[in-house]
Amino acid sequence: MTTLHLPIDRSTGVPIHRQVYDGFRRAILDGLLRPGQRVPSTRALAVDLAVSRLPVLTAYDHLLHEGYLDGRVGSGTFVSSAVPDDLLRSPGAPAATVRQGTARQVPGPHPPASGENGLGPFRISLPALDQFPHAVWDRLVARHTRALTAQQMAYGHPAGLLPLRAAIAEHLRAARAVRCEAEQVLIVSGSQAALRLATAVLLSRGDRLAVEEPGYPGARAALGAGGAELVSVPVDEEGMNVDSLRRRGRRVRAAYVTPSHQYPLGTSMTAARRFALLDWAFRRDAWVLEDDYDSEYRYVSRPLGALQGMDAHQRVIYMGSFSKVLFPAVRVGYVVAPPTLRQRFVDAREAFDLFPPSLYQLVLAEFLREGHFARHLRRMRGVYLERRDALLTGLDRHCGDRLTVHNADAGLHLAVLLSAGLNDGDVVQRMAGRGLAATALSTCYAGTVRRNGLLLGFGGSPPRRMLDATRVLGEVLQARRSRSVAGGATPGR
Ligand SMILES: Cc1ncc(COP(=O)(O)O)c(C=O)c1O
Repeated sequence: MTTLHLPIDRSTGVPIHRQVYDGFRRAILDGLLRPGQRVPSTRALAVDLAVSRLPVLTAYDHLLHEGYLDGRVGSGTFVSSAVPDDLLRSPGAPAATVRQGTARQVPGPHPPASGENGLGPFRISLPALDQFPHAVWDRLVARHTRALTAQQMAYGHPAGLLPLRAAIAEHLRAARAVRCEAEQVLIVSGSQAALRLATAVLLSRGDRLAVEEPGYPGARAALGAGGAELVSVPVDEEGMNVDSLRRRGRRVRAAYVTPSHQYPLGTSMTAARRFALLDWAFRRDAWVLEDDYDSEYRYVSRPLGALQGMDAHQRVIYMGSFSKVLFPAVRVGYVVAPPTLRQRFVDAREAFDLFPPSLYQLVLAEFLREGHFARHLRRMRGVYLERRDALLTGLDRHCGDRLTVHNADAGLHLAVLLSAGLNDGDVVQRMAGRGLAATALSTCYAGTVRRNGLLLGFGGSPPRRMLDATRVLGEVLQARRSRSVAGGATPGR
């Protein structure tokens, strides 16, 4: 608990206990102290204010009695989470007017916790948080928290902790055929940070960067904010159209792609396209930014190796994230930089925010080294396969003629195309009203030619809930279609 700013003036003649009481009351009513916030112990506050403990005890007694504070045996004293109504309406009202039993919940300092729309069925980008191996993770977090050495508490290397970088390099070589050494790996706080770093290193004023159309809005946002002038290049069944990329001219210095599992449509880039893209980069002295965000999960055939591993000329900057394979709030991702760019990435990282926080890096390094990560991935493949199948079954059963599944081969979401007369933005809005959090495919386009569809996440909810959710989706689609038929709406693309 921080020290309270509670001015005590001995010259006024107002008793100390009254000054303490008034100070707390004012701070609570002014919102300086928030519901649920811990306040100092009476002993600590007496020391801080340089007064004896008795007046502080008397003030706390009143504040507790009147409902401003809440005492929890063994865990301290807190600002009450239910401050009486009368007090909030008239801050100056005397304490005597406070009536017990008319309490109202006051919003705390934190935003509301993610509700159903934040975590519910169809939410994209969510792994199976209910299946996370808490026991082993908690044990490692506790172990490293307790045993932090002075060295680990001091400034770290801009690229991150070497044991973690080595463990990631080992995993990427084996699982994704990425050609890399630990020295090339930089730990970052996720894909957004990786993309910002890449723009800082690779681009100069006036340079252009090609992105997929449709593509990942998060990447557009990060790359655009990094100062790149973005050029959309269409994606077809084979991936980014490299002929179209070539025609965009020489100012295009880099291309951002999701070759293993195109976001949002789900296709994987064919070998021919991969070689064409690498050839483009080599001939133009340009770069490829490979976002390998959820390639660990593939349901129909063996995962393709990374584009990076096929590149003989080291033009690929590879990036990945633990958001999907562990959980997003861990905020750990990585960049594998070609040897020629490694030092520039390290320098840019240092200029940006020095180095990544150490604690989760230590935990993750051990999580990987002890084999928990590999075990978790293996187990999750089965979990996601079951969830995906439940989604496909439900879509077939409840939504059959109103949508077409575009691709469900990999990842934690699938794309569906809506049939004529259905508008995806409208459908998503209606779904939100029923507690379902789908994403409109049209939001992934930068241009005006857009397909109407939905991205349906299946990673975050168990099969039973997926099935229930498809029934609700079927009802929403039916209602929208009946409405559009009645209203003579123009067909969707
Ligand atoms: C295409 C793509 N790249 C990367 C990520 C991971 O982002 P981050 O590492 O910032 O959590 C996601 C998450 O949804 C994604 O969809």
